[in-house]
Amino acid sequence: PRHLLDFTEWSPERLNAILDNADTMLQVLDRPVKKVPALQGMTVCTAFFESSTRTRTSFELAARRMSADVMTFAAGASSASKGESLRDTVEVLTQYKVDAYIVRHHAAGAAHLVARYSGKPVINAGDGRRAHPTQALLDAYTIRQEFGSLEGKTVAILGDVRHSRVARSNAELLPKLGAKVVLCGPATLLPAELGTLPGVTLTSDPQAAVRGAHAVMALRLQQERMGGGFLGSLQEYADTYQVNEGLMQEAESGAIVLHPGPMNRDVEISHEAADGPRSRILKQVENGQAIRMSVLYHLLVGRE
Ligand code: CP
Repeated sequence: PRHLLDFTEWSPERLNAILDNADTMLQVLDRPVKKVPALQGMTVCTAFFESSTRTRTSFELAARRMSADVMTFAAGASSASKGESLRDTVEVLTQYKVDAYIVRHHAAGAAHLVARYSGKPVINAGDGRRAHPTQALLDAYTIRQEFGSLEGKTVAILGDVRHSRVARSNAELLPKLGAKVVLCGPATLLPAELGTLPGVTLTSDPQAAVRGAHAVMALRLQQERMGGGFLGSLQEYADTYQVNEGLMQEAESGAIVLHPGPMNRDVEISHEAADGPRSRILKQVENGQAIRMSVLYHLLVGRE
């Protein structure tokens, strides 16, 4: 595939090549001069129609580390706020000879639309609740870094699965790499259709979800996507589903704690679990830059 919109067209071989190349990118980032000429002369546009800390900054740095020019399209201050359509916006940006687009949007399918009208490689940086493929890749990479392989590993993902593009992308990616995924949350936040994906099971029992898990990921309650708000109190949610030291006792002895961020501390994850020795949450952030370098390289230069 020319684009990274989701994982439907991606083979395990190509996905593993991206993870392998991230090892090389981490070595580049460890050098005093953290720059390679791979994307010299190219221009990468980041177009974020939804807020972001990690994804936007790491993509911009990733592109610059590989010597690309970066055009930051500030959607909030653009004519999109006057009602200009996404298609018209993309047709304007394409006149600047951009080589690749990185798109975050509240609407599912927005990155597909940019791919259609830009004619250039597009990376989906999160579209509504549908997909966030580079987040899943950095999650997979972080687990692989810990255990050497994803083959035979179990990853429990707890929280607001319904509104989570991170859960969907991980449910699509991790089984392709040989891992099992257990999705867990209150029934109202756990869409049954995800249980039909290969390698994915659903449960509303958090102890059962983490039993035997090598990695436990907490998801944020996305109150901004809940319309009428979460049915129940945050305290009730935390009492049952919070990832904390007690729940982690049920997991494998060397199990790690992940969170895509941003965190609601002491709601879906306790302070102790977020900052404790099992936590790889900041490692996820560090790996995000290397994974995004690897994805850009893969799509714009080649597979080697
Ligand atoms: N995990 C993630 O996508 O974080 P940001 O929203 O800060 O980019």
